[in-house]
Amino acid sequence: MSTTSCSCANKSDGRESQENIFLPREAKIVRVEKTTEAERIFTLQLADKSQMKFEPGQILEVGLMGYGEIPLGLASSPTRTNTFDIVVRSVGRVSQALNRLQPGELLQVRGPWGKGFPLENLRGHDLLIIAGGIGLCPTRSLIQYTLDRRQEFKRFILFYGARDPQQQLFLTDLADWRKSKDVEYQETVDKGDPTWKGNVGVITTLFNKTKIDPGTRVVICGPPIMFKFVIRELDKLGVAHPNIYVDLERRMKCGVGKCGHCQMNDKYVCTDGPVFAFSEIEKLEEAI
Ligand code: FES
Repeated sequence: MSTTSCSCANKSDGRESQENIFLPREAKIVRVEKTTEAERIFTLQLADKSQMKFEPGQILEVGLMGYGEIPLGLASSPTRTNTFDIVVRSVGRVSQALNRLQPGELLQVRGPWGKGFPLENLRGHDLLIIAGGIGLCPTRSLIQYTLDRRQEFKRFILFYGARDPQQQLFLTDLADWRKSKDVEYQETVDKGDPTWKGNVGVITTLFNKTKIDPGTRVVICGPPIMFKFVIRELDKLGVAHPNIYVDLERRMKCGVGKCGHCQMNDKYVCTDGPVFAFSEIEKLEEAI
């Protein structure tokens, strides 16, 4: 991954002329759920009670005065209420401070930014979403969207893999998806425990459990190591690379094409993505 702070690190998309991209809005915390030891799900509402307009797959810069801000994928669908969800994993100073916040407190958001999932290319087809680990957070936005507009899609298949049962996110959603007739849900953990009765193995073991048509549209989000093996399985099934979309939510900082942290050759994850057709980025060494 080549990063730069030179003058080339400025991939403006013209939004400056329309609005001040650095001006945050206040958002009130409506609900906090501890979903794993490290992760909290926050349900937020803009403090002025206006609707946050966004598309599944877009990102937000989430900040706290005195600490800084971090880019996070929106984890709920715009088809739901006028609240929106984010998931914060405690890994640094900002995220640890955010994860100490309680309902009723305020934080700051900028965005939404970036290009989300290409809904127009997904509608009318079988859809397979493959989410590994925290990759379930941005894909949950698309999962909720698909369930809310179920008639616009053909088969809806969802693969979710976690390291172990304690690392599973969105436990209420998982319980619903296991029972739902609207989604063919398959899950696995890399390492089971005495309570786990489901599949054990890497996420590619789920390909043995269902038939996937070559015309299926596929969305992938997860750790980089997962991509390579999942793409190999999709190649065996004959899924064309322009029909595979990868969410590369990583290495972002400013979120608006200014800092260069997310640069992959001539592409910026924050402004050209975070969702890319695999055919667009498969030649970029830094991407996969
Ligand atoms: S250029 Fe700053 S995060 Fe993309």
